[in-house]
Amino acid sequence: MAFDIIERIREDFPILQRKVHGKELVYLDSGATAQKPLSVIERESELYKLYNANIHRGVHFLSDKMTTLYEDARECVAKFIGAPSSSQIIFTSGATASINLVAYSWCERFLSAGDNIVVSQIEHHSNIVPWQLAAQRKGATIRVIPVDDSGALQLSELGGIIDERTKVVAITQASNTLGTRPDVRKIADVAHSVGAVVLVDGCQGVVHGGCDVVEMDCDFYAFSGHKLYGPTGIGVLYGKSDILDSMPPFMSGGDMVDKVSFERTTFAPLPLKFEAGTQNFVGAVTLAEAIKYVNYLSPALIVEHEKSLLDYTTEKLLNIPGLKIYGTTPTKAPIVSFNVEGCDHYDIGMILDKMGVAVRTGHHCAEPTMHRFGVNGMVRASFALYNTLADIDALVQGVERAVNMLR
Ligand code: ALA
Repeated sequence: MAFDIIERIREDFPILQRKVHGKELVYLDSGATAQKPLSVIERESELYKLYNANIHRGVHFLSDKMTTLYEDARECVAKFIGAPSSSQIIFTSGATASINLVAYSWCERFLSAGDNIVVSQIEHHSNIVPWQLAAQRKGATIRVIPVDDSGALQLSELGGIIDERTKVVAITQASNTLGTRPDVRKIADVAHSVGAVVLVDGCQGVVHGGCDVVEMDCDFYAFSGHKLYGPTGIGVLYGKSDILDSMPPFMSGGDMVDKVSFERTTFAPLPLKFEAGTQNFVGAVTLAEAIKYVNYLSPALIVEHEKSLLDYTTEKLLNIPGLKIYGTTPTKAPIVSFNVEGCDHYDIGMILDKMGVAVRTGHHCAEPTMHRFGVNGMVRASFALYNTLADIDALVQGVERAVNMLR
């Protein structure tokens, strides 16, 4: 994407026009949450102003209208990730809720003592802890696919990790710290050969090029709306229909039932079986607006633009003496985590903030990744479609200045 188009696109994002500490905002923390275009912000407001009414419950005009918008949003998400049917799309509060749903419901029925669950060494805590708790409940164990020094998964070791007792393989589509994009399809093929199910955490993957759940052949796919230029508090769980059908409900209450009596309750068909209570219908419809925006710009063009940002950042940052970048795989997502010898990651982040540059510091909810690389934290710059080369120049100058101050 030409950089003059980016200048035009930036005008769609009101927050990018504001100042922080008297400086132009340079927002390089989209991995934590992306900024929202005006169309998304205005859509949310319009929904509350003109259409607010609970879904699936009323016969009145507004309820009917909002129900249609909500179900259209489900269709939109299904199309975006290549799901064969919208009934395979369950709206949740976010990727964490999606993963917990599977870790409780699927594991409740299908995980037994002596089984194992496989995760990778570079998962976010939300794709580790729910599995640990499930393993503890059922007497199963956790196994880990290690990574090499570049942050690539050591898939040659898969044969010794995934075996007949593996029931779940939970893997990221793109690491939130290293940017690594594992070969999910290859892992899924090995997992399926022993009858295990595969859950893919798509939080950082879906925003950088989208996904095709059929091509990946994952059994579950989870992502959050707020990282995809959408609102907070809305997320998605995709699942293969037969697997979702075989799972017991997770949360229970209104809207997820068929018939209720004191003797017996039967449950609604997919996807409502997993959508108990009043859903975040405004969030779901607003997420569809965000997807419309991404589609309008084209995921492929966004990837191309972000790759040029990544290459430029990598080249510039590596000119700083003592700076080390973690995650150097050639196909990585546009996320650059680093440390500078003799400087604390937190101090660098604080100094950058004073210059208007927003980055994330710390363990990034990925402590096992930090352990693997022998650090307690990193500075992370994560990019989005609205970033420019000038943003990167500000980052690099800021880091240079921080290093001069701290050393
Ligand atoms: N998971 C988000 C991040 O990586 C919050 O920053």
